[in-house]
Amino acid sequence: MNFIITESSEEMSRKAAELFAQRIRSNPNIVLGLATGGTPEKMYAELVRLHREEGLDFSRVTTYNLDEYLGIPATHDQSYRYFMNKNLFDHVNIPRENTHVLNGMAADPVKECRDYEDAIKKAGGIGLQLLGIGSNGHIAFNEPGSKADSRTGVVTLTGNTVKDNARFFEKAEDVPKQALSMGNGTIMEAKEIILIADKESKAEAILKSVEGPVTEDVPASLLQKHTNCTFILDSAAAAKLKKESGRF
Ligand code: GLP
Repeated sequence: MNFIITESSEEMSRKAAELFAQRIRSNPNIVLGLATGGTPEKMYAELVRLHREEGLDFSRVTTYNLDEYLGIPATHDQSYRYFMNKNLFDHVNIPRENTHVLNGMAADPVKECRDYEDAIKKAGGIGLQLLGIGSNGHIAFNEPGSKADSRTGVVTLTGNTVKDNARFFEKAEDVPKQALSMGNGTIMEAKEIILIADKESKAEAILKSVEGPVTEDVPASLLQKHTNCTFILDSAAAAKLKKESGRF
């Protein structure tokens, strides 16, 4: 595991965007795995700036998002498709057909997930995967206890995650209880992984993921087994790791 510890959420976002931009420049046909949530918003804004001001070219890039809520349509302002369009795809020159987000309204969600796995394989696999982390150590919507080799499928959110994500919805009851999500096994096949985290609320999950045992109880700890994984953290998210590990 590699670490980039930054002073602020802004610097974390800039570093992550720079790294994505480098990879896109060196491989314009790259397949990206993308994430949603509050954490990557400023990183996407920086990628938009790099596109507008420095000509970062997305015309041959392909993207697959990690997850989507089950039962809400792409037009819903809390769907992850809506988030991606609003924060990135609407503002860069990526052909819309190159962007993939699981369909939360699919008539057959299990088939939707199977087809998504096949599509990723056909595209040659994910070259660079972006991850956030839940305060309980989840990655995508793979909650504690999900299998290390799980594939894209229908998952149930924990009460903790529903509570964390309630801030985006009008009422906590509006947060969907199920989602479609890439599996831990799917994520681990990405050639390179960047995990970003800011805020003190992530510090414990970061500590457990890095210094704790590799366990399905903390899905992000599975990343210890990945051969090319970098955590980009702000000082708040890195606080416990800095204090309790001899690494820094
Ligand atoms: C959601 C997403 C995850 C994301 C996590 C953290 O549960 N499924 O992919 O990493 O939230 O979100 P935030 O960045 O808002 O803290």
